[in-house]
Amino acid sequence: MSDRSSTMLLFGATGDLARRMLLPSLYALHSDSLIAPDLRIFGTARSGLSDDEYREFARTALEEFLPEDRKAENMIDSFLDRLQYQALDASTLDGFDDLAKKIGDISGGLSIFLSTAPFLFEPTIKGLQHAGLAGDNVRIGLEKPLGNDLASSAQINDAVNAVFPEERTFRIDHYLGKETVQNLMALRFGNMLFEPLWNANAIDHVQITVSETVGLEGRAGFYDDTGALRDMVQNHMLQLLSIIAMEPPANFDATAIRDEKVKVLRSLRPVAEGDSVRGQYGDGAVNGEAVRSYAADLEGQSDTETFVALKAYVDNWRWQGVPFYLRTGKRLAQRRSEIVIQFKSVPHNIFGGRGGKLEPNVLIIRLQPEEYVRLMVMAKEPGLDRGDVKLREVPLDLSLTTAFAGKRRRIAYERLLLDLIEGDQTLFVRRDEVEAQWTWVDGIRANWAKNNIEAKPYAAGGWGPSASVALTEREGVSWHE
Ligand code: BG6
Repeated sequence: MSDRSSTMLLFGATGDLARRMLLPSLYALHSDSLIAPDLRIFGTARSGLSDDEYREFARTALEEFLPEDRKAENMIDSFLDRLQYQALDASTLDGFDDLAKKIGDISGGLSIFLSTAPFLFEPTIKGLQHAGLAGDNVRIGLEKPLGNDLASSAQINDAVNAVFPEERTFRIDHYLGKETVQNLMALRFGNMLFEPLWNANAIDHVQITVSETVGLEGRAGFYDDTGALRDMVQNHMLQLLSIIAMEPPANFDATAIRDEKVKVLRSLRPVAEGDSVRGQYGDGAVNGEAVRSYAADLEGQSDTETFVALKAYVDNWRWQGVPFYLRTGKRLAQRRSEIVIQFKSVPHNIFGGRGGKLEPNVLIIRLQPEEYVRLMVMAKEPGLDRGDVKLREVPLDLSLTTAFAGKRRRIAYERLLLDLIEGDQTLFVRRDEVEAQWTWVDGIRANWAKNNIEAKPYAAGGWGPSASVALTEREGVSWHE
């Protein structure tokens, strides 16, 4: 299905994601004329707001979250004209008929986006079906988390797919909407340079770091039930790993790409005992500012991990024996999403000891906050010495920000909401993918439970517990700082 819907319906329309991301993204699509002038947008949530009150709510959100140079009063007004609102308690069937009546004609297609707590997914799907809002021209987008283990995720998927077949189900992982994540595919498959070396013959190991400086951000209840493994590794980090490790798809379409990603996920070896580290931040300082421990933020004791580091292997021909080191955490030294590909050393050093140590090549792909690709190469230091050629490691730098100066960096939800409206599933997560992710993550959690692996304390503002350093150092590898 690649036809445009003429109506959009947003559940969770007064929530945090709607304020910060969804409304500003829809506004951006509106102001850039990327959505049809007659696309109607309906919001629904429990609060009893009128259309005008919702428009005021949306205006306040836009004022707060749009960049200054994107705010234009008349443009905001014309965007708000698209919005209508209907209060609804999605946990019962009662209000769905009124919702359907308010929306009216959906013959031009309807795109629904659920940005609600996952326990509301099932009743919402039932309500939509009951009110005739689930026909062939309706597609559904689902925000994470999709369950908290394989069983609960399968239950949600069963309930959704009973009404919306897979080709009308759009599961969000907002990392896939990031320009730089899509760029990983451009880099790998749009260039001849990398692919012949992209395997166990030439690559020593891969590191994937997604570090954050923020703490709980007012989400204590959700986060404490979830932890870093399920919040970040199950989805975003495994998506990055799949894109780095996948075979070249035959073309850039949803089925071809997702087929290749799911093969990687199914090739993940269960993580060995001792190859995972859990951590929890204590007091410390981030960017020079004192911050409190997780327990203080939570106002209670808990063993939930706010940091996780793993050594993973992809058991297939291409990646045999190549470790993928993954780490992510809250309250770390820097906000940084980065992939580091470390190549093997040259097989023979023709410069002998005189040239100095030959460092292996390293390809660094920084996804955020900066966007660059940097290849560390050995080069000769200038000088006339014939018998004493000195080599030094220097960066070959490509700043994507500079290369594409003048092009606005779009937030992930602009891409994803547009794709939902237009029916393109390439950047959405297929059911078999999400279930393969959970299978692997459940194995790690079972191992933690069996061996009573506790979250080790680490000082806020550092790089996690010392066991994370030991995880790589014992293989002679250092985390890239
Ligand atoms: C979300 C997690 O999925 O991703 C958050 O629930 C995390 O805990 C966020 O902060 C990180 O996203 P980004 O785009 O800021 O890297």
